[in-house]
Amino acid sequence: MCGIVGYIGNREATPLIVEGLKKLEYRGYDSAGVAVINSDNKLQIAKAKGRLANLEKELEIDGLSGVIGIGHTRWATHGVPSKLNSHPHLNTKKTIAVVHNGIIENYMELRKFLRENGYEFITDTDTEVIPNLIDFYYNGDLVEAVTEATKKLRGGYAFGVISVDEPDKLVAVRKDCPLIVGLKEGGNFIASDIPAVLNETRDVYFIEDDEIVVLTKDSVKILTEDGKEVNRDVYHVTWNADAAEKGGYDHFMLKEIFEQPKVTRDTMTSRIALGEDITLDKINLTTEQLKSFSKIYIVACGTAYHAGLIGKYAIEKLAKIPVEVDIASEFRYRDPLINEKTLLIVISQSGETADTLAAMRLAKKKGARVIAVTNVVGSTVSREADDVFYTWAGPEIAVASTKAYTTQLVAMYIIALYLAQHMKTISNSEIEELKKALIELPEKEEEILKNAEKIKKHAEKVSKENDVFYLGRGFDYAVAMEGSLKLKEISYIHSEAYAGGELKHGPIALIEDGTVVIALASQESLFEKMVSNIKEVKTRGAYVISVAMEGKTAIEDTSDEVIYLPRVNPVLAPIATVIPLQLLSYYIAIIKGCDVDKPRNLAKSVTVE
Ligand code: F6R
Repeated sequence: MCGIVGYIGNREATPLIVEGLKKLEYRGYDSAGVAVINSDNKLQIAKAKGRLANLEKELEIDGLSGVIGIGHTRWATHGVPSKLNSHPHLNTKKTIAVVHNGIIENYMELRKFLRENGYEFITDTDTEVIPNLIDFYYNGDLVEAVTEATKKLRGGYAFGVISVDEPDKLVAVRKDCPLIVGLKEGGNFIASDIPAVLNETRDVYFIEDDEIVVLTKDSVKILTEDGKEVNRDVYHVTWNADAAEKGGYDHFMLKEIFEQPKVTRDTMTSRIALGEDITLDKINLTTEQLKSFSKIYIVACGTAYHAGLIGKYAIEKLAKIPVEVDIASEFRYRDPLINEKTLLIVISQSGETADTLAAMRLAKKKGARVIAVTNVVGSTVSREADDVFYTWAGPEIAVASTKAYTTQLVAMYIIALYLAQHMKTISNSEIEELKKALIELPEKEEEILKNAEKIKKHAEKVSKENDVFYLGRGFDYAVAMEGSLKLKEISYIHSEAYAGGELKHGPIALIEDGTVVIALASQESLFEKMVSNIKEVKTRGAYVISVAMEGKTAIEDTSDEVIYLPRVNPVLAPIATVIPLQLLSYYIAIIKGCDVDKPRNLAKSVTVE
């Protein structure tokens, strides 16, 4: 997620902005840039692809100078990471500069409107509409122009604006993306997050949604969208920078687990709406083409592979097309049957995993059509695939994947519904019902997260184990695999996931007095069968922690502990069921003193075979 820093005051803006941007590096970025207004009242810009060190080199050459400026670290969403696409972006006349975090959903229609009014666009970004729209409305009052422009924007954003027409003002806006103001005598700051200003000040204002903030070197005014001034208490920061980067959470992993309602929402936004067809802007397949596919392969590694398993269940259930899911490192060497009638879906958070890339290239060579589900714009997978579905999870810092997995599940459901809509395999009312259930999911995720403390209390017992078993049927079996992987990765406890019905074919021999079994029973149609499987382990001495939907109290007779989930549509249940498993693994790893965010032997992006 992008980072914004801005300064207006008595000092040179550039070094303060660059120092601030360095403190936002944890948010992830692929390029950076700064704009200042110099003493000749001209906008000076420096930008660079890659690390901030590259920007610093540019700055050595360009030598920006000015006491008002804005800077940005970009995490690409619209348009590949490049110098051109990096912020700040300017209006056509080059009088207004903007840095922006978030997504402008209606940027295509705004571009069209602005083009018709003589504006030109030179980047692929959604951001470029903002300075031009402000210019369109500018009539001698920057705040008024920003206010008017903001009314035309749809999406979630925070942005900062400077203009050579009013060089004594820095204006910023927030809607659904973080924005704070740092207060200091002789100069004020805007930033996406507190660490960016902590070297300079501990006094901040939190800007709220739909507010506009106007900074001069010695004043800060917060306005509502209809221009009323707001009184805001100054918040004095007492935490250290490290804690602040993690938003007050102890670890990135916990922060990312708690971000899941937001990223679930972000991944759905602009793709599904009640009463409207599902539109996937970067998937260009006609109904005829979709009908021509006789088989779908889903190929991925690790957690992404587990998301693929859910994808198989969802696509087969909703779109009635046979799906095979494969581990990328196996797929590429097993001579898979591929031709022009094959649709390959690759899932990769990073978009750079070597085996996934190789599998994709192989399938393309044999004539398959490839859809990539990835979290990183401009990644190799996104560039080489025919079509792309971006999961808007934002950068995932913790090595163990949590929020990226949830958004991969959202992607799988939306693709399954998209296929079903084209193939007419389920009725419109069934599609609408599932869309409604999807839209309601973030609230359910929030409810589960509110119960984190209850889940924590199970961690102590499990942390003492050497082996843990996860059981599930149907969708729950795939979630059990993911739960088991999370536990292994971050707590180093050995664990296995089994399909409930498979136990008696061997693994049940491992169950003895006190063996911990985590049993998932979210699926209404399989509930009784699952209860029977739980009984099988319980009678052999297992200590059972079950996960079930609210009201399914029958499970208490066969369980030592039950974690209840709010009721969700069984097809979508994995998004709910996985959260207690992520939390449980996290709390167990904490008890064991493990390095949660950077588990031993693991890398975030596996770019070697
Ligand atoms: C586990 C985890 C890994 C990744 C796998 C694929 O928590 O993160 O199993 O899912 O290495 O990575 P991507 O999705 O980047 O291809």
